[in-house]
Amino acid sequence: MAEVIWGLATSHVPSIGAAMDRQKSQDPYWKPLFDGYRPAREWMRKHPPDVIILVYNDHANAIPLDMVPTFAIGTAAQFKVADEGWGRRPVPEVTGHPELAAHLVESLVDEEFDITVAQQLEVDHGFTVPLSVYCPEPGDAWPCPVIPIVVNVIQFPQPTAHRCLALGEAIGRAIDAYPDELTVAVFGTGGMSHQLAGERAGLINPTFDRMFLDKIQDDPQSLAALTREDYVREAGSEGIEMIMWLIMRGALGEKITRIAETYHVPASNTAAAVALFENQG
Ligand code: DHB
Ligand code: FE
Repeated sequence: MAEVIWGLATSHVPSIGAAMDRQKSQDPYWKPLFDGYRPAREWMRKHPPDVIILVYNDHANAIPLDMVPTFAIGTAAQFKVADEGWGRRPVPEVTGHPELAAHLVESLVDEEFDITVAQQLEVDHGFTVPLSVYCPEPGDAWPCPVIPIVVNVIQFPQPTAHRCLALGEAIGRAIDAYPDELTVAVFGTGGMSHQLAGERAGLINPTFDRMFLDKIQDDPQSLAALTREDYVREAGSEGIEMIMWLIMRGALGEKITRIAETYHVPASNTAAAVALFENQG
């Protein structure tokens, strides 16, 4: 039987990846952010999963805006790193887990989540930056296979927060039902509050972010009850990425323990956070 052992919520700001790629993580601007990652990284190093399921959004880098799936799953054996306009990040290609991915597709469709199947997918900063948060020095290969789950948070109408939590719960049940012995970590990525363009560009809302960080552990239902308009108003047009954290939360059991947390403003012009939870089953 497979088992979800922990969940990581993390921002995926592209400049965090660029800072690592250019050895700037000890520069005065970046050091406080990366110092905040240390406890989570140390714990994760001691608890490596066999597989990661990484919930993220593409930013119109690999999935063009003329056909945007609400939810998709990457079933390929290999995922290339996308070139977002200034060359691919110097990080390894990603190995998938086609068997578990096929099982997830079947289970989710049987549970009436009509998920899109991506047999070919390149992964952008939304995916690679969280992997770098987990494993800053992968060398030639990431430490384990990773299954991408892609969520539309960039084009109206984004899925509801409620649907995201329910999808996570269905993913949790599917993992429980997988026959092989596997430990799984689930990553929910994006956020926290930020808006990249328009009149409110630069918006950061620490009050909302702190509330979200607090409630995601024991009261995710209250976060699932917020509308997409609530998310955009309170957290900014890109802050709605936080609904992807609810997919991670749903895949964990009711009882979880907070292992580590850090909140940092600003990373570029966004609020960034990491929150790590151990599943108590
Ligand atoms: C930026 C991009 C993102 O996708 C994000 O989630 C946060 C920040 C940026 O370009 O700064
Ligand atoms: Fe983003």
